[in-house]
Amino acid sequence: MTTTAPRPTKPGRSDDGRGRRWPVAAAAAAVAAVGLVARRLRNGGGPAAPTEPPPLRVPRRGTARRPIWSAATARATIPARHLRTDAWWVQPLITVVVLVLFVAYSTFRAFQNAYYFSEPYISPFYSPCITTRCEGDTFPELFTGPAWISPAIYILVVPLGFRLTCYYYRKAYYRSFWLSPPACAVGEPHGKYTGETRFPLIVQNVHRYFFYLGLVLNVILTYDAVLAFRDETGAWGHAGLGTLVLVVNASLLWLYSLSCHSCRHIFGGRLNHFSRHPVRYRLWTGISTLNGRHMQIAWVSLVFVALTDLYVYLLAADVITDVRFF
Ligand code: FES
Repeated sequence: MTTTAPRPTKPGRSDDGRGRRWPVAAAAAAVAAVGLVARRLRNGGGPAAPTEPPPLRVPRRGTARRPIWSAATARATIPARHLRTDAWWVQPLITVVVLVLFVAYSTFRAFQNAYYFSEPYISPFYSPCITTRCEGDTFPELFTGPAWISPAIYILVVPLGFRLTCYYYRKAYYRSFWLSPPACAVGEPHGKYTGETRFPLIVQNVHRYFFYLGLVLNVILTYDAVLAFRDETGAWGHAGLGTLVLVVNASLLWLYSLSCHSCRHIFGGRLNHFSRHPVRYRLWTGISTLNGRHMQIAWVSLVFVALTDLYVYLLAADVITDVRFF
């Protein structure tokens, strides 16, 4: 399979078929000659009258029609408030409600600085826990931070930056919070549109780097899920509901990363010939399938990471006890 047209053969490179091309060229010339004679006969047999080229029409200054829409000028103008007959506002409303609830809950938990570890489980909001003041012992303690700074603050910038700059979430919150526009065929309050071409929105282009950092975090959360196959005494070969929760959470985060648009470009972008890169082509095909579900995976993984934290929180606060499988 090739993504570009095949290169023409260089002149003189191959002359094997030169002999076979002569009859074809002769036949084409004969057909052209017969066509010419027939046209002359239709025109009375005389020489064909020279045809005048149509006069060039040069648009006069100031008379050209303005484009209906131009990024440099203004947004499309819809006189009616919207052209929709369905409940178009439901989706942006759900987006606002879920994102506000998630931000409120995660902010509370990140600053709470407690109830994030219940042997052998650690909350994904606090992993990797990298200060000497961390509860539990799941990751090397790298430094002693001020006691009033929650260990979650040091690492939350990665998942937060990854989600904030995600192509799907951008669409979701541009529509829901900035109403830019709130939905297709719905008027918006903004008179101008500059896209992501200038500060601050041009910073969204760092998404690829958050993708790389997110992969590191996924490895650590997978490591946490493996540690969850122990019991409270540290003996291996045990599992409980918390183990299942941590495994599902890590799996969903991997799916979220692998379905990312940047991931798809890393594997399949900048290639002119897929046929010369069969492995990358196969990976790109699989990632493209996941990428088609990126929106759904984004929501499910977001909600589940909050539920995972909630489960560990309730265990650590002795509100519930873990269900042990074996
Ligand atoms: Fe959503 Fe990259 S596009 S995570």
